[in-house]
Amino acid sequence: MIKDIQEEIIRLKKEKNFCILAHSYQSREIVEIADFVGDSYALSVKAAKAEYDNFLMCGVRFMAETVKILSPDKKVILSNSTAGCPMAEQLTPAELSAMKKKYPGYAVVAYINTTAELKTLCDVCVTSSSALNVVKKIENDNIIFIPDINLGRYVKKMLPEKNIVLFNGGCPRHAAVTAEEVSAAKAMHPSALFLVHPECTPDVTAMADYVGSTAGIMDYAKSSDVKEFIIGTENSIVTHLQFECPDKKFYPVSKNLICSDMKATTLSDVLDALKGEGGEEIILDKETIELARKSIDEMIRLG
Ligand code: 13P
Ligand code: SF4
Repeated sequence: MIKDIQEEIIRLKKEKNFCILAHSYQSREIVEIADFVGDSYALSVKAAKAEYDNFLMCGVRFMAETVKILSPDKKVILSNSTAGCPMAEQLTPAELSAMKKKYPGYAVVAYINTTAELKTLCDVCVTSSSALNVVKKIENDNIIFIPDINLGRYVKKMLPEKNIVLFNGGCPRHAAVTAEEVSAAKAMHPSALFLVHPECTPDVTAMADYVGSTAGIMDYAKSSDVKEFIIGTENSIVTHLQFECPDKKFYPVSKNLICSDMKATTLSDVLDALKGEGGEEIILDKETIELARKSIDEMIRLG
């Protein structure tokens, strides 16, 4: 059954010239039919190249919006319209404008997990993989960093020369991981390295052998000589790594580290969207696209 749906998806995407983009938190059966799988940064760069007429995003809304901003003349469809990132909606444009008034002259750095509307008010975007590199290269040392307080704290710790003001937002899934869970996993798997996403809290990232984006975590585990890893990001990464490295062992740091938004998309959603019977086409007005694009282009230029 799964194979039948996958074959139909592969036939239709070729017929209709669709590029299927999948974030690495998607399930195995979606990753298998995607043309490109990656972290938020890699997906943005791929979208900027736009070799296809149409894009189908298997991920969350801000990712589909980013594709539309970078390829405004292409049709961009979000496979499941309910898939949003709760963090992306934690800060409103009015709240950000108030912060900008309070800290005049500060550069506004936005995690890419923000709405297109919010990006129009920012100077530069970052992803978890580009944040350190991009913030280091910003000329202005005074920075407002939104919305993820944990990624912001991590950047602040690594770049003490910058004066960074944070907003109190974050990922409810990563922020729920506790130091006690990490200690318990380490006690159970004493030879394993702990690889963690910077959206986790500082007490958790402080216990890590490696802190990085989803792609960074995967690359680290694949290229390491070590054979066992505790994974501190969405549990689909554990599954993908286990498929790709059958001679190694991967353990989730917490059984609760599941993003229900990332998991909302099913193979049937993908098929329906390709048939023109589902999904949601992303429509953004010209001004939003132009203003939001500046901050993403700046990230790609610096990153
Ligand atoms: P990456 O930038 O590592 O792909 O992470 C995106 C995300 O939503 C993590 O929760
Ligand atoms: Fe958003 Fe967290 Fe899900 Fe990533 S894991 S999409 S930050 S809610």
